[in-house]
Amino acid sequence: MRGVILAGGMGTRLLPATLITNKHLLLVYKKLMIEYPLQTLLDIGIKNIIIVSGGNNIGDIANVLGSGKKYNARFTYVVQDEPLGIAHAVSLTTDFLNNEPFVVILGDNYFEDNISNFIDTKNFNSGSIIFLKEVPDPQRFGCPGFINGKISIIEEKPKEPKSNYAVTGLYFYDNTYIDKFKTLKPSGRGEYEITDINSLYLKEGKLNHTILKGLWSDMGVHDTLLHVANFVKEKETK
Ligand code: DAU
Repeated sequence: MRGVILAGGMGTRLLPATLITNKHLLLVYKKLMIEYPLQTLLDIGIKNIIIVSGGNNIGDIANVLGSGKKYNARFTYVVQDEPLGIAHAVSLTTDFLNNEPFVVILGDNYFEDNISNFIDTKNFNSGSIIFLKEVPDPQRFGCPGFINGKISIIEEKPKEPKSNYAVTGLYFYDNTYIDKFKTLKPSGRGEYEITDINSLYLKEGKLNHTILKGLWSDMGVHDTLLHVANFVKEKETK
């Protein structure tokens, strides 16, 4: 199975640091931000990885990460000319994906859990899997609503969340992704939303979910970046 890391976007929520470098190259304790989601993929045995970023940043990211050799992996890079959304960034990787199932991770997401404890990636071949985590501020994220324990709806940054869960930035999809993407329209914020892709899988009854146990956080705002840095420091010094 191949993997996709998304490292595009503007990073405006981390200004002024993002005036100096791409958000995903910022230091989070002793590692670069992007190395955390990269490690999450490596831990589940994904070695063939494509990294998407904007034209201004892809060169810096490639300079730092290189061919993948130092991680015992193989990296490919692709440019997203404009930050048109997560679903759009994924659509740019279609040729690389070879019509096979794949995994996507957001380049600013930190997962404490080893995902192999939840799913057998080798046997994933149909539908989709998303990972949920209980959070105090679900209105900042994709957020599911449930009926009888089953997801009935997913909303992007709802003002009135239907649960306390966030949809985290790790997604497994089958090869119907691109056909679904072709039916999407940009949202109110002008982006092709990954939540709309997930809603299409849900409509087909093919959206599976798992609830994470360990810490999950984005690192996309000052407070969450600091929180993850402190968490990793404490974990490493224990
Ligand atoms: O962190 C999880 C959340 O990520 C999900 O719960 C939401 O459903 C999902 O929409 C997303 O929310 P954000 O609005 O916080 O995403 P953000 O714009 O910060 O982008 C997340 C990552 O995706 C970031 O590392 C950059 C990358 N990205 C983003 C956009 C908009 C791209 O590569 N290209 C893009 O066009």
